[in-house]
Amino acid sequence: MIIAANLKTNLTRSATHKYIKQVQTCTQNSSQEVIVLPATSSLDSYKTDITIGVQNAYPVEHGAFTGEIGLEHLNEFAIKTILIGHSERRHILGETQELIVKKFDYFKEQGFKIIYCVGEPLEIRERSHEEVLMYIHNQFEGIDTEYENLIIAYEPVWAIGTGKVPTLEDIQNVHNELTKKSSAPLLYGGSVKVNNVKDILKVGNVNGVLVGSAALNAESFCSIIQVADELEKN
Ligand code: PGA
Repeated sequence: MIIAANLKTNLTRSATHKYIKQVQTCTQNSSQEVIVLPATSSLDSYKTDITIGVQNAYPVEHGAFTGEIGLEHLNEFAIKTILIGHSERRHILGETQELIVKKFDYFKEQGFKIIYCVGEPLEIRERSHEEVLMYIHNQFEGIDTEYENLIIAYEPVWAIGTGKVPTLEDIQNVHNELTKKSSAPLLYGGSVKVNNVKDILKVGNVNGVLVGSAALNAESFCSIIQVADELEKN
């Protein structure tokens, strides 16, 4: 399974060093594919087997894009994994589907592993299941869903950082639908915690989780990885 930590705007570089060391130690005997996405300023040359990715980058090698980083900055640390389309970038930072597609195409061209996020806001979820599927369908506009290095993360906007989680049936329904669109591994994200991850990982067509708040603490993230390991043993 794929167990990914989105550290968002948290953990300084020195705190991230400590964090990755701890996660490295606890994953020594783990069979999970572990991915950690530190804050941009916390990227570094980490000596670890864990995959280190970036939460965002501009689709350019370098240039005049104030406040952004480009491919050159990722190459410095041999980073080949990127998160694209996260709801906080779509809804808080106003990233359009057009820009998202540009990023996707650029980093696909570079052979990056792309974790592509989709998910509906609450008002859509409250309307109907069909509306949810239509909303998610539109978030794939312009996206090559058969890209070989693609991972898809279903993250309902209203579940992110709120402690609210869809029913397991709702997760299953959306993931089943996603399998019709792509053969990429499918992650669920949104308020995944140590105490609900087992049930979520048992849902059909859930191939892993993308964790925010509960991954900020290395011990808690390690416990989540351990649950995945135990599930695979059984
Ligand atoms: P959360 O965040 O686990 O804090 O809900 C998940 C995410 O945004 O990827």
